[in-house]
Amino acid sequence: MVKILENPLRVGLQQERMPEPTILVIFGASGDLTQRKLVPALYHLKQERRLPSEFTIVGVARREWSHDYFREQMRKGIEQFSDGIGSEEVWKDFAEGLFYCSGDIDNPESYRKLKEFLNTLDSQRRTRGNRIFYLSVSPNFFPEAIRQLGNAEMLSDPIKTRLVIEKPFGRDLGSAKALNRVVNQICKENQIYRIDHYLGKETVQNLLVFRFANAIFEPLWNRQFVDHIQLTVAETVGVEERAGYYETSGALRDMVQNHLMQLFCLTAMEPPVDLDADSIRTEKLKVLQATQLSTLRNLDTCAVRGQYTSGWMKGEPVPGYRSEPGVNPNSITPTYVAMKLSVDNWRWKGVPFYMRTGKRLPKKISEIAIQFREVPVLIFQSAAQQASPNVLTLRIQPNEGISLRFEVKTPGIALRTRPVDMDFSYGSTFGQTTGDAYDRLFLDCMLGDQTLFTRGDEVEEAWRVVMPALTAWEAPTDPASIPQYEAGTWGPAEAEQMIERDGRRWRRL
Ligand code: BG6
Repeated sequence: MVKILENPLRVGLQQERMPEPTILVIFGASGDLTQRKLVPALYHLKQERRLPSEFTIVGVARREWSHDYFREQMRKGIEQFSDGIGSEEVWKDFAEGLFYCSGDIDNPESYRKLKEFLNTLDSQRRTRGNRIFYLSVSPNFFPEAIRQLGNAEMLSDPIKTRLVIEKPFGRDLGSAKALNRVVNQICKENQIYRIDHYLGKETVQNLLVFRFANAIFEPLWNRQFVDHIQLTVAETVGVEERAGYYETSGALRDMVQNHLMQLFCLTAMEPPVDLDADSIRTEKLKVLQATQLSTLRNLDTCAVRGQYTSGWMKGEPVPGYRSEPGVNPNSITPTYVAMKLSVDNWRWKGVPFYMRTGKRLPKKISEIAIQFREVPVLIFQSAAQQASPNVLTLRIQPNEGISLRFEVKTPGIALRTRPVDMDFSYGSTFGQTTGDAYDRLFLDCMLGDQTLFTRGDEVEEAWRVVMPALTAWEAPTDPASIPQYEAGTWGPAEAEQMIERDGRRWRRL
């Protein structure tokens, strides 16, 4: 049990400022993400009184919806996917700031109409020309939407206008570079907010505080003391209704290039000189520049893909990936990826970073585990049933917290040892669960803080790291050659073999 001390450390990550009155324009407003995540997060901010009363949302999509129909849909989303409406008064106030404007992504006339509408709202809602354009549309439309916004001069004020881009940012290194070129022609980097919602998770942010606000861990955080690091993002869900997107993406693009790479960067980076966005992003870039897939000559020794077959989840039968609706029966899209990265710098040379992610695994769990080296000589060998090295685990979800595993003597006359955990959990220490990642990211964007958003060069470098696997796995191949794992198990045997070849094992979660 961890006690909170009276004078909690103040860090610059937490701002309590109120954002300026703004209009948030969501492209793709009739989509799933808007209803499930974006608007519920904004409503939650409203409930917490973190939004100014003038705050306004304009949904844009092709369908001909009325303002009232849009409001109804958003209300349903809040009721279904968050804690609900709560006070009707708060909802009324929020709904008064919700508007809808139909339009086509590739039609200049739609942008002209939108611009006029936003100008009208400015005087009605006193939003002073502040705009955030949020692209929650299919990635194919990103370049077109950005060009059209540019042509309509809707992003030309670098102070008052911002652009938020959902992932995936590109499909590979080449397309990410091309997209960055388009974005940079229209906007300045300080207007661009590339979302990776993992960066909005409380425990991910706490990783920085844990590493750089405590003196005792950092001296151990290197090749002298660390044997290896395991990063896991396991999911129980299958492809759900997203086959159309997932078939063109797969686990490497959907999870590894972005979420896992961000966890990796924050774990491996050097201390930044400051907490401002660029200092942190520069350190993340530097560690990515030193990183490679471990052995390029033989990809199988450092990267494994897999696909789930039918199996059982929570006592229910579930179909295999290739039988999911909308999935090609001969699909080679990976739903599981395991990788070994090496970081060729002074801190990490020789310390492997193993990462794995997959759908239809037995548990939803994300964590970073730092496994320390074994003691040089085990003098308790006869007493220990099994020598277990120290492990520091940062639990990102669920049951967010941190635990340190070490060896103790069990009570009694016989000299026996056993590993135990010293545990900190957010829930029991602070009596509250951590907030939703989108709340945090919206607020930061409105406040103009880019720390938790990825910079263009960082995104490109993350693509560079995964490119060898992406290129190899895109090549046509016999579908029967893709490693399989039964739904409800921990991934293909090949992933076990990959780590076991190094004399190590995946953690049992
Ligand atoms: C998204 C992926 O970015 O992250 C999804 O597209 C995945 O496939 C999701 O399920 C996982 O996020 P979380 O916050 O539930 O771990």
